[in-house]
Amino acid sequence: MLKFKNPERIATLETPFWYYDMDLFRRTVDAMVEASRKYGITVHYSIKANTEKRLVEIIKDRGIGIDCVSGNEVKWSIVNGVEPAGIVFAGVGKSDAEIVYAMKVGIGSFNCESLEELEIIESLAAKEGMRANVSLRINPEVDAKTHKFITTGLEMDKFGIPRRFIQKAIDILRKCPHLTFKGLHFHIGSQITDVENVFANECRSAKAIIDIFEQEGIMVENVDLGGGLGIDYHNPDSHAIPEFDLWFRTLRENLPLRLGQHLHVEPGRSVVGQCVSLISRVILVKEGEKKNFVILDTGMNDLLRPALYGAYHKIENLDGKGRELRLYDIAGPICESADVLAEDRVLPETRRGDLIAIRSTGAYGSVMSSSYNMRTPAYSVFSD
Ligand code: LLP
Repeated sequence: MLKFKNPERIATLETPFWYYDMDLFRRTVDAMVEASRKYGITVHYSIKANTEKRLVEIIKDRGIGIDCVSGNEVKWSIVNGVEPAGIVFAGVGKSDAEIVYAMKVGIGSFNCESLEELEIIESLAAKEGMRANVSLRINPEVDAKTHKFITTGLEMDKFGIPRRFIQKAIDILRKCPHLTFKGLHFHIGSQITDVENVFANECRSAKAIIDIFEQEGIMVENVDLGGGLGIDYHNPDSHAIPEFDLWFRTLRENLPLRLGQHLHVEPGRSVVGQCVSLISRVILVKEGEKKNFVILDTGMNDLLRPALYGAYHKIENLDGKGRELRLYDIAGPICESADVLAEDRVLPETRRGDLIAIRSTGAYGSVMSSSYNMRTPAYSVFSD
């Protein structure tokens, strides 16, 4: 059950809001940094998961780099003091303005996702009289065994350069004087829970692709294996800190590195997912024809994941202690049938005004929210 550091103060606040457990966030970052040092891995926080300024500042203070997918994410990282050299920039469609901006601030690497993009960056760099650092994001054709919408490394996915174009990519690199080849990039998907098997498969595929470059006499200095480490949505308290050690060990054991070769990762969800809960109040409990509905003052406009992916988030009635258990659907106020946060959940008998915590909403929560139905989006509250 979620515990607030300052419950009296919390009880006076308007809902809905995102409650940041800053202590847990710091402990999570510490655990990640410790494991990354142990295995000699460079981390770039995937800022798309949560762009909150206070988190970015802590990430920056620990010297962690950032993985971006838009010019504005690059800009936001720079504004918050992140070293440009630690920034990597992926995405299947970077605009000319985004590319020129990122090139001028001197990011560590563009993770290029197509042959077409390589040629665009070359021509923009030539026009600016600059050189651009590029890595090739290759589609490794590895199944992440996760939700279809968050799988990125299969033949049918739009991401990365298809394996059959690797030779062509090498030919383009050789004839582009304004591109500096930095390495290879892979990312197979998100919320991966079969850590040992899935990431070992990713390593095997990466190894085979690195071999192709080496056979061509090209040294691959940086190998970026992306993000994807899953979190335990069912047990946020007993598994508050994800298994960074297991993930990094799996990568190191399955990908032999040459001298001078560096391993990078881009975790998002695992860094921040468990550190935030969406706090809401019950507007009313509605008796339906077949079901009983708890109607909250938050919904899919704040937290889209259940509607979009059928995602599970643990829901707790913080005021329900000692009451009998009942079965409910938990829904929001939005005029959409998909605005159901959870179906068939057992909760203590729930009443108008009860405080509800929707757990594990730190990653892809606030960043995917909207003001649909002209609702005021949830705001942020920090435990400290
Ligand atoms: N690197 C790249 C290139 C990515 O596309 C992503 C996530 C990451 C790293 C970070 O992956 P993570 O460690 O967070 O799994 N909105 C979805 C998740 C989309 C993930 C997009 N890419 C959700 O709510 O589940």
